Amino acid sequence: DKGGWSSFMAKEINDQPDAVENTVRGRVSPSGVEIPELTALGDERLRGIDRIIIIACGTASYAGQVGAYAIEQWARIPVEVQLSHEFRYREPVLSDRTMVISVSQSGETMDTLMAVKYAAERGVTTVSVCNTQSATIPRESDAAVYTHAGPEVAVASTKAFVAQITALYLIGLHLGRVKGALSAEAAAQAIAQFDELPAKVREAVDTHEQIAQLAHWMADTRSVLFLGRHVGYPIALEGALKLKEIAYIHAEGFAAGELKHGPIALIDHGQPVFVLVPSPRTSPLMHSKVVSNIQEIRARGARVIAVVEKGDTAVLPYADDVIRLPLADAFFEPLLQVVPLQWFALELSTAKGLDVDQPRNLAKSVTVE
Ligand code: BG6
Repeated sequence: DKGGWSSFMAKEINDQPDAVENTVRGRVSPSGVEIPELTALGDERLRGIDRIIIIACGTASYAGQVGAYAIEQWARIPVEVQLSHEFRYREPVLSDRTMVISVSQSGETMDTLMAVKYAAERGVTTVSVCNTQSATIPRESDAAVYTHAGPEVAVASTKAFVAQITALYLIGLHLGRVKGALSAEAAAQAIAQFDELPAKVREAVDTHEQIAQLAHWMADTRSVLFLGRHVGYPIALEGALKLKEIAYIHAEGFAAGELKHGPIALIDHGQPVFVLVPSPRTSPLMHSKVVSNIQEIRARGARVIAVVEKGDTAVLPYADDVIRLPLADAFFEPLLQVVPLQWFALELSTAKGLDVDQPRNLAKSVTVE
């Protein structure tokens, strides 16, 4: 049931405030964060973990990339992200102190399942972040941390993505507390952010009208670039993937700092570039670097669409369009920034008369390797 929306994807974008709220529910209390499925593994085992590898494909891998920054920060454990289908072939160095966290909406993606089995056979602790109850991957894992986004029907993932990031953050906070790497105060600050998150995601969803206008003017666009830094970088990759998946438009995401090492050569007159601007309050250094990037591309003729936190006026002289989002701590920005990018892909797909929910050549879950 599309609930009155024109597509499942539109409904699922709109569902995102509930998706994050439901994923947090029961795992966060004023006294802290606890994921019972991780507790069941035993604190000794968790304290022994000295390396985490996140494995996933597609949108789930970008959720993994966002989550990796936070888990490393909060738990002080080195975290890397690998595509499931690349994992085995490099013969990764694994031990009984390694944790592999798989991320999969369906829990059936064959590439990810094979990677989890490979890890499990080598004595690794396997944790599944999955949206589908009793799917194969969580059943094959030592612990299943379910996202509670509800069934996702559209091929292009939206609400599962924000729920995956949320679940990975909860895992990072849980591990940080168990390992003693994270103070109760720092955990409490993150917990307060979770409380405010559904309302803020709702505000991000409410950018729809503005984005629809923008997409209307840009219906003939043949290529779009996305720039982000830190946790904004995987969001840039996700924004580009969404456009490829459902609007069949060439799009690329870049780490903003990489611009001068190559991609800036792509910029010429009228090239649309979405820039995810970190908060000047929480990340002043990154903010000033990204504003410089905007000046550099604007000087070369780019059409700049800046995604900023409300009240950030630094970009106004250089941006053609400004999308304003609620204030949030740095790790919580991506959960807001991705929403207008989802709407943009949906609106361009619609403007081109395409089937938003069933893009050509793609399947919701790929059960072959
Ligand atoms: C792709 C889907 O084939 O699989 C993507 O088209 C999805 O939307 C990816 O992100 C991974 O799927 P899952 O179920 O493992 O999260």
